[in-house]
Amino acid sequence: MTSSQTELMAGGLMLAIDGEVATVTLARPERRNAMTPATWQGLAVIGASLPPEVRVVVVRGQGPSFCAGIDLRLFSANGVPGEEPIGGLAISEQAIAGYQAGYLWLRNPAIVSIAAVQGHAIGAGFQLALACDLRILADDATLCMKEPALGLVPDLTGTKPLVDIVGLPRAIELCLTARTVTAAEALLLRLAELVVPAPELDAAVADLVAALLTVDPAAARATKALLRQAGGHSLEQQAEAERKAQVKLLSKRP
Ligand code: CAA
Repeated sequence: MTSSQTELMAGGLMLAIDGEVATVTLARPERRNAMTPATWQGLAVIGASLPPEVRVVVVRGQGPSFCAGIDLRLFSANGVPGEEPIGGLAISEQAIAGYQAGYLWLRNPAIVSIAAVQGHAIGAGFQLALACDLRILADDATLCMKEPALGLVPDLTGTKPLVDIVGLPRAIELCLTARTVTAAEALLLRLAELVVPAPELDAAVADLVAALLTVDPAAARATKALLRQAGGHSLEQQAEAERKAQVKLLSKRP
């Protein structure tokens, strides 16, 4: 799979690759970066076609909002021009798996993904931020898992990271009230690694990217793989995984 800018633009996406850093931009600010199936398919294509030298992926949104979630016109009779309607009984698990592919790759050990969030991150947009390894929020950011309020479940891979980060009781409370979390609360709930004044968001992301690039690439990849699996392992299993990873890493040294 390859990603051409024309193909990505159909999903309201832009991709810029600068050496070890890729920046994915949600680029439909006039719709607050609302997402369609073409957006999710475009994200999947980006994930599948990233050059191997890319180590950090920044996901950002143009305009006042990070992402207002699914394009609500998909649920209307007129739909979104060029897109299949999504409501009703027509949706299949296979189709949703395809949409989820746009989110899953952001966890790959080969990269560290950072969501740079300003303004609203709602529904599918909040789940996109949750799919990233790290989140930096502008102080005007708000997060909302709106799906249950719309008669839906969050199905774009957001429920697991949400529970992992905030714990089950808080995840139930946030989803089943569909309430909005401010940036200040997000920091307390560990949904943000950092909150900065909105004009400083880009600089804060650039600082984090620079810091991530100072670490040895092979060690970074092996360490992220270890950390990602730690939650599902016993201490003994994880200790074994550490040993194996270290021996493998050292064996590849010149
Ligand atoms: N779908 C389609 N269009 C949207 C949109 C959305 N999700 N969100 C915003 N827009 C459009 C608005 O219709 C408006 O278009 P016009 O200029 O043509 O009227 C434009 O973007 C600007 O929106 P606002 O004037 O409302 O901007 P705002 O800054 O005052 O408010 C907002 C921003 C809080 C995001 C508000 O637009 C809003 O609440 N949007 C809907 C959010 C929502 O409910 N999303 C669905 C989440 S659930 C989900 O995502 C499901 C899933 O994963 C399966």
